Amino acid sequence: MYKFVFSLLLSRLDAEQVHHATVGALALLSRAPVVKKVLHRRLAPRDPALRVEAFGVHFPGPLGLAAGFDKDAACAEGLAAFGFGHVEVGTITAHAQPGNARPRLFRLPRERALINRMGFNNGGAHAAARRLSRPRGVPVVVGVNIGKTKVVPESAAVDDYVTSAKELAPLADYLVVNVSSPNTPGLRDLQAVELLRPLLVAVKQVADGTPRRTPLLVKIAPDLSDEDVDAVADLALDLGLDGIIATNTTISRAGVSSRETGGLSGRPLKARSLEVLRRLRARVGDRITLVSAGGVENADDVWERLLAGATLVQGYTGMIYGGPLWASRIHRQLSRRLRLRGITSVREVVGRTAGSADTLGG
Ligand SMILES: Cc1cc2nc3c(=O)[nH]c(=O)nc-3n(C[C@H](O)[C@H](O)[C@H](O)COP(=O)(O)O)c2cc1C
Repeated sequence: MYKFVFSLLLSRLDAEQVHHATVGALALLSRAPVVKKVLHRRLAPRDPALRVEAFGVHFPGPLGLAAGFDKDAACAEGLAAFGFGHVEVGTITAHAQPGNARPRLFRLPRERALINRMGFNNGGAHAAARRLSRPRGVPVVVGVNIGKTKVVPESAAVDDYVTSAKELAPLADYLVVNVSSPNTPGLRDLQAVELLRPLLVAVKQVADGTPRRTPLLVKIAPDLSDEDVDAVADLALDLGLDGIIATNTTISRAGVSSRETGGLSGRPLKARSLEVLRRLRARVGDRITLVSAGGVENADDVWERLLAGATLVQGYTGMIYGGPLWASRIHRQLSRRLRLRGITSVREVVGRTAGSADTLGG
């Protein structure tokens, strides 16, 4: 049904307009107490075997929505009602900003991919904090992803992130330092360990100072060299971070015909994201939580990421092509798969193929 609506209608409309209309509808849903509860009851993961605990936070299922969809923290409850185990809002910057000129979001349906050069369009940390502090009617794990305001020079980047962290860390179930989007000039340079260390130290101090101690993760690009992936992993361990999210979108255009600039997501990113995950797992083992994003389309992909060592998995582009019931469907399929194999907790799957021959089946 969704495939039919997508090919006949949605694919003919401007991608960003469809996005804003969807977020608007989900924001309305987030404020409709009865409907969201009914949907949540039907679609949210309920199987206890799917529950995951990571960095002290309880997730109802391993699959969450990656950052960039709910940039302004406007509709997390609506998204949870449709079956996501967590919602990562943002990227939010300290100051409101319009993002890049339109058009800036492009569908590549044949390749099951998207290219975006949104450029962190968002209403700023203060407005997002107001929204996040509203009481919630359905349970939802909310991660908050923060980035650098475009006009702030690199030399003042640390203060800019700290401003966002102060507003948002107390309201987040976990906080993410995003240094990996390709659409803010110079941002990805912050992944170099000499620049990343002081940035993470400063943000961690804020996150550690909240009443509950907010877990802190860093999100990295798939375009890092293998050595740089190792260096970030070592730094994360050294600083006692709670996790690493791998990966953001890629600037590579391998396997796609479009030459639009921006970050490429979806199917063409799958192999590299998995490769980065495996590399991270080999480096950090189970000492910190790995969150895998990039090209996840179905339950097989989620399963593969879990086996490779991800405790949590995120998707964005897969939902655009898979439709509104995407996350709910995948959680149901995972649940069935666990039952068929007699596995009582998804935690038992995590890391089973990392460096071993045990595959737990496909
Ligand atoms: C339109 C769009 C906007 C995005 N915006 C952000 C963002 O603001 N911050 C961020 O960390 N990642 C952002 N991402 C990256 C996703 O969170 C994710 O890491 C990436 O798309 C790979 O996952 P996927 O292949 O499932 O889409 C964005 C992705 C898309 C498609």
